[in-house]
Amino acid sequence: MGWLFCRIVVFFLLVLQFNIFTEARLVGLNYGLLGNNLPPPSKVVALLKSRNITRIRLFAPNHTVLRALEGSGIEVILGTLNEDLKNISSDVTYALSWITSNVEPYSDTINFRCISAGNEVIPGDLADFVLPAMKNLHTALAASNLINIPVSTSVPTSVLGTSYPPSKGEFAENVNSIMTSITAFLAAKKSPLLVNVYPYFAYISNPNDIPLFYALFNSTEVVVQDGKLGYKNLFDAITDAVYSALEKAGGESLDIIISESGWPSDGNGGIATIPNAKMYNNNLVEHVSGSLGTPKRPGKSIETYVFAIFNENLKPPGTEQNFGLYYPNMTQVYHLNFSQ
Ligand SMILES: *[C@@H]1O[C@H](CO)[C@@H](O)[C@H](O)[C@H]1NC(C)=O
Ligand SMILES: *[C@@H]1O[C@H](CO)[C@@H](O)[C@H](O)[C@H]1NC(C)=O
Ligand SMILES: *[C@@H]1O[C@H](CO)[C@@H](O)[C@H](O)[C@H]1NC(C)=O
Ligand SMILES: *[C@@H]1O[C@H](CO)[C@@H](O)[C@H](O)[C@H]1NC(C)=O
Ligand SMILES: *[C@@H]1O[C@H](CO)[C@@H](O)[C@H](O)[C@H]1NC(C)=O
Repeated sequence: MGWLFCRIVVFFLLVLQFNIFTEARLVGLNYGLLGNNLPPPSKVVALLKSRNITRIRLFAPNHTVLRALEGSGIEVILGTLNEDLKNISSDVTYALSWITSNVEPYSDTINFRCISAGNEVIPGDLADFVLPAMKNLHTALAASNLINIPVSTSVPTSVLGTSYPPSKGEFAENVNSIMTSITAFLAAKKSPLLVNVYPYFAYISNPNDIPLFYALFNSTEVVVQDGKLGYKNLFDAITDAVYSALEKAGGESLDIIISESGWPSDGNGGIATIPNAKMYNNNLVEHVSGSLGTPKRPGKSIETYVFAIFNENLKPPGTEQNFGLYYPNMTQVYHLNFSQ
C-alpha cells in the first residue's frame, strides 16, 4: 500500500515537473536559412541553448540543421517546401518517403511539435493541395508509428476577408471552403492551426487609421472597443479576428500557434527601426508568455515563434532582410529578453 502510494506520488511529481517544463517556455524562433553568410547550424544550436530557446520552426527539412538539433532538447516545427505540396498531396508514397527521410531518422532525438504542410500557401495557386497533403502526411506519420506528431499548415492573415472589428473576423470568400475543410480536419485531430500574425504589415498598409503605438504594444489604454471587449494592441485584435473566423467555420475548439510574428529593424524609414523592433518583440514575448491571453480567449497563453533568428541577405532587399534578432556574425541586432 505504502509502496503503491509512493509510486503514485512520484508519478504525479513527474507529471507536474513535465508540465512545468513544457509550459514554461512558449516562445520560440523561426530559423530561416535564406542567407549565404549564416553561421554553421552547430553554432546556431549552441547560441539557442545559451539563450534557453526551446522551440524553433524550420521552413523545410535540412539534414545539417536537423543533425545539429539532435539531442538538444529544442522542439521543432518542420515545414514542407511549398513546391513539394503537389506531389505530397497526390501520392501517399511520396508523403511516406518525405516522412521516412526527414522525420523518422530524427524522431528519437528530436521532439517534433508538428509538421506544417507549406507556408502561406492559402490564398494562392497551390491552395487546393494543402488539405490533401495534410491528410497524406498524417497517413504517412501513422504508418511510421509517429501518429502523435500533429499535421497543420501555416496561413497568413490574408485568409481573412474581414478582420475589423475582431468579432466580425471571417475567412475571405475565395478561401472559405478550403479553410472550413482544413478547420474540420484540425478539429477532428485536435491539432492547432498555424497563423503568421504581423501587426507591422497591417500598420504599414493603413498608417492613417492605425496608431503606431497600438501596433507596438505601447498603449496602456483601450484603443479599439469591440462590444464588451477592449483592445490595447493590434496583435490581440488580429489574433481574435482569426478566432472569430474559426468560430464561424466550426472551429471554436481550435488552438492556434503564432508561427510567425516580428518587426523589421531597418529598411523603412522611421517605422522599421531598432528601437521599434526591440519594443515590439520584447512586448510580444512578455505578452504571450504571461497567462493574459487575448480579450476573446483570456487566460489562454499562445505559443509564438518570433521571426527570425538572423537577418537573411538572400531575401528581397529592404525590410524583408531585416527581421533578424542577430546579424549573421551572431552579434545581436538588439536584445530580446526571453526569460520573462
Ligand atoms: C537558462 O536557464 C537556466 C536554468 O533555468 C538559468 O540558470 C539561466 O540563467 C538561464 N539563462 C538565460 C540566458 O536565461
Ligand atoms: C542546410 O543548411 C546549411 C547551413 O545553413 C546550408 O549550408 C545548406 O546549404 C543547407 N542545405 C540545403 C539542402 O538547403
Ligand atoms: C513530383 O512528381 C513528378 C511526377 O512523378 C516528378 O516528375 C517530379 O520530379 C516530382 N517533384 C519533386 C519535387 O520531387
Ligand atoms: C512605450 O514607449 C515609451 C517611449 O519610447 C517607452 O519608454 C515605454 O517603455 C514603452 N512602453 C511599452 C510598454 O512598450
Ligand atoms: C557584426 O555585424 C554587424 C552588421 O554587419 C556589425 O555592425 C558588427 O560590427 C559586427 N560585429 C562583429 C563583432 O564583427
